[in-house]
Amino acid sequence: MSKKIVTCRDKQFELFIDSEQLQKRIKVLTERINTEYKGKTPVFLSVLNGVFRFAADVVKHIEIDCEISFVKIRSYTGMKSGDLATLIGLDTDLEGREVIILEDIVDTGKTLYHFLPELQKMKPASVKIMTLLVKPEAAQYEVPLSFVGFSVPNYFLLGYGLDYDGLGRHYNDLYKVIEAPVVKKN
Ligand code: IMP
Ligand code: MG
Repeated sequence: MSKKIVTCRDKQFELFIDSEQLQKRIKVLTERINTEYKGKTPVFLSVLNGVFRFAADVVKHIEIDCEISFVKIRSYTGMKSGDLATLIGLDTDLEGREVIILEDIVDTGKTLYHFLPELQKMKPASVKIMTLLVKPEAAQYEVPLSFVGFSVPNYFLLGYGLDYDGLGRHYNDLYKVIEAPVVKKN
């Protein structure tokens, strides 16, 4: 059963998208992959940590041959040459492959924006992004999203892989933070 409210560290979160809605949407989204990639063998490049729940549910509905790889993107910021993103843990040669990047959430878009040029250096045949969630109001970097589960307002979200300071990834449902009311001082 879904809990309506959960407490995680110093914050309370309320139910936002329950497990049943998540599963329904993921099935529909993945059926598009089955159609668009028919006769091909795409590589899912799943970006840890947050994506582990989404990736596991996506592959339940995949009916074509595919490879699944889990990677981490390490970002370096504040360097003069600009921001860099390097890939950790890649164990597949991506040259000539159809790559589908799997993400839990695209927030500012910064991570993927810096990562895409690095990926292009590996000469894949194609690269598309599949993300469970996107927050359009938070976008600061333009990244092309081909498969989107839910477009959501700019709330801090928790559960179904997403964490708050390391906690809450294990919840089956997705929660949104309950903002404390602003107390006006006279
Ligand atoms: P971006 O580079 O700003 O798009 O950030 C993407 C990453 O920020 C995601 O992969 C998450 O790890 C994290 N993130 C963004 N929004 C949330 C949220 O609402 N809850 C938990 N993590 C988030
Ligand atoms: Mg992520």
